[in-house]
Amino acid sequence: MNPKSPYIAFLALTLFSSSNLCSQTARIKIDAERVIGDIDPLLYGNFTEHLGRCIYGGIYDPKSSQSDANGLRKDVAEATRKLGVSVVRYPGGNFTSGYHWLDGVGPKSDRPKRKDLAWGDIEPNLVGTDEFMQFSRLTGTQPYLCVNMGTGTLDEARNWVEYCNAPTGLYYSDLRAKYGHPEPYKVKFWGLGNEMDGEWQMGHKNAEDYSKFALEAAKLMKWSDDSIKLIVSGSSNYNDRWMDWNRMVLTTLRDHADYISLHHYSGNYDKDHNKFMAITTRVDNIITTTEAMINEIRSRYKIDHPIFIAFDEYNVWYRAGNEQKLEEHYNMQDALVVAMYLNTFIRHANIVKMANMAQLVNVIAPMMVTNDKLWLQTIYHPLQLFANRCKGRSLETFVQGDTYDAGDYKKVPWLDVSTVYNPATKEIILNVVNRNADKSVATTIENQYGNLGNSANITEVNSTSIMDENSVNEQKVKPTEKTISVKGNTLSYNFPPHSFTQMVIKTNF
Ligand code: AHR
Repeated sequence: MNPKSPYIAFLALTLFSSSNLCSQTARIKIDAERVIGDIDPLLYGNFTEHLGRCIYGGIYDPKSSQSDANGLRKDVAEATRKLGVSVVRYPGGNFTSGYHWLDGVGPKSDRPKRKDLAWGDIEPNLVGTDEFMQFSRLTGTQPYLCVNMGTGTLDEARNWVEYCNAPTGLYYSDLRAKYGHPEPYKVKFWGLGNEMDGEWQMGHKNAEDYSKFALEAAKLMKWSDDSIKLIVSGSSNYNDRWMDWNRMVLTTLRDHADYISLHHYSGNYDKDHNKFMAITTRVDNIITTTEAMINEIRSRYKIDHPIFIAFDEYNVWYRAGNEQKLEEHYNMQDALVVAMYLNTFIRHANIVKMANMAQLVNVIAPMMVTNDKLWLQTIYHPLQLFANRCKGRSLETFVQGDTYDAGDYKKVPWLDVSTVYNPATKEIILNVVNRNADKSVATTIENQYGNLGNSANITEVNSTSIMDENSVNEQKVKPTEKTISVKGNTLSYNFPPHSFTQMVIKTNF
């Protein structure tokens, strides 16, 4: 093939598009030899908190005709499985900082009712550790428990590990057996508190106090079970001190930390589409900065074990506050932002090894339950496509093309792209968000290594308007599929305005 032909095709597209002024242009190069890292399946995690209708009326509702004998909703479990969720964080969130896990085990009639000071709800404790483990089994997801570093004690933290993971023969593992669960749950992932840098947190601490306390908890928890992985609470409060917090926490807990937790929520606060579409640029910066700090600390203190990032809360959240119990209704625009979060995590697959959409059902969630019927929000679709197909290796992607000025961020490319190579299926998966609300992006896609097959499967998530929402009655935003033919190692594709497109291309390598 003439090596200049892709460039000629790109020039032709540029001339074509500038002559009819209807589209932007771009060029994407993919190369299966340029691997960023293996994609951890834990990137497709989720989160359930005792908050509003997430646990009660979401995953658990004994009165519903949809529920099983344990009171767990079968429709929610099924939609969770179809979503490809790998790991679920529990029981919070802010709730965790006032939660005493012993309140939630044993006979339900003996469990205390308490006021949750994070969200103001009355907590009946009808769902606790054992019910959450039933939910994990029902959905085939791994549990990730977050311990109380606010009002909790060191003993509570180590005893919870014993309750969940120790073989019978100890006080708390015997208690588990007495309550009907002789086999250890083998919970691998444990969070050392939630957003402890936030003044909104019960038992909020400064960086030094949190680090000292979390270090002692970490020691006791790992001495109770040395196979567990610990996630330390990074800053979620991106003021001018967030890096100081992370530095103190990572330095103090360097011998015990397996992950540092990061959170980020997005909103279209200024009703400015282009600005909103650039919001994950910040997420990219946060990850890059944290990765550099991890590298510095591991190198300074000669730490052999890896420390990864667990992005264990992310989503669009800006409309529904506590009065609405965070029952956010998502539109097409929001689905694009979720796709860009996932693109960002994939582009950092070497360091981001877990990510959890906040949350699973009803509360800032991809699925809703209305009058006993489950329906899918717009953001369900990109997450499902990523979780079910983007397995294998993340590839570096060269993207050249038109850009725009988004205020805080300059030269933002219209296309946001990630690329995956799945060695098991020999497929390239290209994930492309066209941020532009009005214009398509005429793109040439060039493959650098091996040969492409002769067709590509295209799935597009889109709708007539960026403001379109789904509801219990209608799925305006949903995936549509088609197949296009591919000749040689270059293909041309017009990414439609405000679309998320996933291309699955067969290869011969
Ligand atoms: O997910 C909702 C809340 O957002 C969580 O409880 C908290 O961790 C974050 O601030």
